[in-house]
Amino acid sequence: MKLEKYYENPSVLHIGTMPNRAYYVPYDKTRGQECLQLLNDQWKFMYYTNPYEVADEFYCIDFDDKQFTTIPVPSCWQTQGYDCHQYSNVEFPFPYDPPYVPDQNPCGAYRHTFYLEDDDLNKEIYLNFEGVDSCFYVWMNGKFVGYSQVSHSTSEFNITPFIQVGENKLAVLVLKWCDGSYLEDQDKFRMSGIFRDVYLLKRSKHHIRDYFIKTDVDDTLQNAVVRVEIEYSGEALNTEITLIEPNGEVINTQTSRDSELEFKVTNPVLWNAEQPRLYTLILETEEEKIIQKVGIRKIEIKDNIIYINNVAVKFKGVNRHDSDPYTGYTISREQALKDLELMKAYNVNAIRTSHYPNAPWFVRLCDTYGFYVIGEADIEAHGTVSTYSGSYRDTFGDLVQDERFYESVLDRVQRCVIRDKNSASVIFWSLGNEAGFGKSLEDAGKWVKSYDPTRLVHYESIYETGGHKNDTSMLDVYSRMYASPQMMRDYYKDESHTKPYILCEFVHAMGNGPGDIEDYFDVIYSDDRYCGGFVWEWCDHAIYMGKTIEGKDKFYYGGDFKEFPHQGNFCVDGLIYPNREVSPSLEEYKNVIRPARSYAKDLAQGEITVCNKLDFTNLKDYLYIEYEITCDGKVIESHRIDFVNVAPHDESSIQLDYTIPDHGICYLNIYYKQKYDLAFTKVGHSLGFDQILLVNHETSIIEEKEVQKEIPQVVLENDVNIVIEGNQFKYVFNKLKGVFDTIVYGNQNQLEKPMAFNIWRAPTDNDINISSEWRRAGYDRHTVKVYKTEVLEQEGEVQITCEMSLAAIYIERILHVNVAWRINELGEIKVNLEAKRNTKMPYLPRFGLRLFIPKAYNQATYLGYGPFESYIDKHHASYFGLFKNEVREMHEDYIKPQENGSHFGCKKLNLSRKDGGSIEVVPDREMSFNVSHYTQEILTQTKHNYELKESPYTIVCLDYKNSGVGSNSCGPELLKKYRLDEEHFEFGLKIKFGK
Ligand code: GAL
Ligand code: MG
Repeated sequence: MKLEKYYENPSVLHIGTMPNRAYYVPYDKTRGQECLQLLNDQWKFMYYTNPYEVADEFYCIDFDDKQFTTIPVPSCWQTQGYDCHQYSNVEFPFPYDPPYVPDQNPCGAYRHTFYLEDDDLNKEIYLNFEGVDSCFYVWMNGKFVGYSQVSHSTSEFNITPFIQVGENKLAVLVLKWCDGSYLEDQDKFRMSGIFRDVYLLKRSKHHIRDYFIKTDVDDTLQNAVVRVEIEYSGEALNTEITLIEPNGEVINTQTSRDSELEFKVTNPVLWNAEQPRLYTLILETEEEKIIQKVGIRKIEIKDNIIYINNVAVKFKGVNRHDSDPYTGYTISREQALKDLELMKAYNVNAIRTSHYPNAPWFVRLCDTYGFYVIGEADIEAHGTVSTYSGSYRDTFGDLVQDERFYESVLDRVQRCVIRDKNSASVIFWSLGNEAGFGKSLEDAGKWVKSYDPTRLVHYESIYETGGHKNDTSMLDVYSRMYASPQMMRDYYKDESHTKPYILCEFVHAMGNGPGDIEDYFDVIYSDDRYCGGFVWEWCDHAIYMGKTIEGKDKFYYGGDFKEFPHQGNFCVDGLIYPNREVSPSLEEYKNVIRPARSYAKDLAQGEITVCNKLDFTNLKDYLYIEYEITCDGKVIESHRIDFVNVAPHDESSIQLDYTIPDHGICYLNIYYKQKYDLAFTKVGHSLGFDQILLVNHETSIIEEKEVQKEIPQVVLENDVNIVIEGNQFKYVFNKLKGVFDTIVYGNQNQLEKPMAFNIWRAPTDNDINISSEWRRAGYDRHTVKVYKTEVLEQEGEVQITCEMSLAAIYIERILHVNVAWRINELGEIKVNLEAKRNTKMPYLPRFGLRLFIPKAYNQATYLGYGPFESYIDKHHASYFGLFKNEVREMHEDYIKPQENGSHFGCKKLNLSRKDGGSIEVVPDREMSFNVSHYTQEILTQTKHNYELKESPYTIVCLDYKNSGVGSNSCGPELLKKYRLDEEHFEFGLKIKFGK
């Protein structure tokens, strides 16, 4: 069809749209209902691969649309089987030729019929689209109404001149790409269509068009002013304006035609995310009523510190996309509420709407339930760094410095700010994400500052490019993504740095990780100038593709659709799985950002110090404590304290009542539990915990069963093997490998394959960089060389010592190891080794022994860090305890398989089978272990969890150490303290078999 090419013209952004205004839905007093007629429905739909093929007259009233199918509105057409899915991160999914887009530009032609009543004609009728990706043309009853773009913003058309009583025919043509797509290069699946609500507002002829509520609180917090600025559609109307307190009491009603008026509120009840108390403002004209919730709060920066209501707050935030594996960008209130519910339950208090405004009601939910919001404009032009001559250094700012896009940038920022300006939850306006910097953003930022001086302005990617000298005066905070904790500390060493520090993204939550959350909060809690951070990101992005024959969900990520370009599983980087199941990373975050922290004060006297990590709430009004004493993981006593009187940001010492056991490894566990029912969570909901070591009597924690003693004998020795026998057992040692090939105990074969030294792990997503170094050093394919073996029978034991090394083909030694094995008269196998690591090579993934034991061993009991998988740097959700699990349940099912399920700090592991056999492992000090039915090789090779094939074994890894997981998939390198990089180390453990 012949179309005006507005979609390639950045100087035509909107045609026929109303000026921007705040979001609200008025109530029609004359009809006793909302002025809203929702058009969400099944619409007629035709997909075309380009606009030239669109039927010429598809928008005409009598166009024959029999060929059309139907599609739900709202939805993304890719989730309905049209077009194809594409996940691109940085790269533009089309040639970089702004403002042009490909001619093969997929389109959706939509037709919908709606009905109007006689008296609707007395109204002004506005057609609203809350989100259409990427641009659209609108016709009513065959006439052109207008055009709009900016996918995540509302477009409102006055269609009064186009409508009639009875049947009305609406036609919309949506194009996948437009000039605006150059500014919508967010890291996401690229979807299209009318993906948010469409509705009519049937309004009185004259009405309130827009209003802006600003609250101002004095320094004492005793006096507030609620200022209301009103704009009418025409002449000013008589308006009754009422302000009601959160408890329902009317403060005052004013009747006026003024465009500005004020309410004075003494002793205001202030809004904050912990206590989101809202006033109600009612704006009433003769025919309409608008109800607006108002949060009174004070935002201010003093001495480089962000204060909300005079309190230096901490944002414990997440970045959230509108993303769902079933519905794509189309998110219902129920879906959003599910996210908010999970966030609340996991102590999250802040959200960055990365990287575009969410549906307009979303911030309303944040007002109500209590979240601080960074409201971000629909801008990202990251692809400017991925062109042939592109780089962060030179071209990043190209589009925001391009005069053709100047209007577009400002428009996007204005649409974001003006729509959501009445939401108390919005603390920051963010100018966008990763677009470099330039005049258009500077001017947009300045516009924000003058339009809404009550809030803070945020923007991160202030790269200086293209010869442009940056002016960042309008940015209130210094924002960084993925800075290391050390970089954060260094920032304030430079005294010219005078802005609060915010991490708009950190601890990249991809796959197994992040491992460094606590390290960041060490810094964040160290100084009020660090106001917190937003985890990247809340949820894995993926596409649901049905189930396997076994009934397992299939989630696809980038590349699975054969698309180009794509960035693989880089979209699977959330704290929760695509289907909103919680991954251990959210558990980890939850406990790092727990509302209270306890420290030892005088443990012998039962004294601890409890710190309140909340900003506004005394702990006595939020939680109670349950504490228990455990000895070798068993609970010895437990108590409860209901009244924990600690003011926010304060600490106080608390007297506990317990007796410290005289044996075993004893801990004090302190659990914080929710005291009252809240919107999403009930009394008793776990808010986090602390665990404090009381004593560590390293008494033997092996329960000695009656086992017949018998002196083991070497019954055979040749060049390759040493065979050792007792009545109960037969062990075959391999002199060329330095380990046992066969272990028969109690007539049962205990090894399905020879034992082996193990240094490899299936790379985690966070190992992405280091794993190529690991491979280069041959860690994934090492061989063993034993130089010397000695066997000795003495003191009732058989002792075997080996000197050996690990090295890969064409590469020098990785490790040199001296191993001593001992088989004692109980048939126990003890190993002690000393290793020397080649320090020219990268740190090791892990070091230990790997056993392939019969699959019948399907139960594990361990004394160590559980119940979640735990690593040297990721064990804050776990605690030292005694845990029992089915092996199958110990696998963490990452969408892309990888190392998982390790348990750190383990003192004892017992594997058992139903028929009574058992294997017990006790390290000299402690170990990390994994038990799984998946080999690390299977985990390394398999691309999706639903393709994983169990091996016929139970695989046990007994590690001296398993290196930390960190967050290097996007964040800094693994911190040194979490690496297995020591030059010398020693490791010992004992394996004992039982019948
Ligand atoms: C950031 C970006 C995010 C996301 C993340 C990596 O650079 O702002 O949108 O791409 O990296 O997952
Ligand atoms: Mg990006």
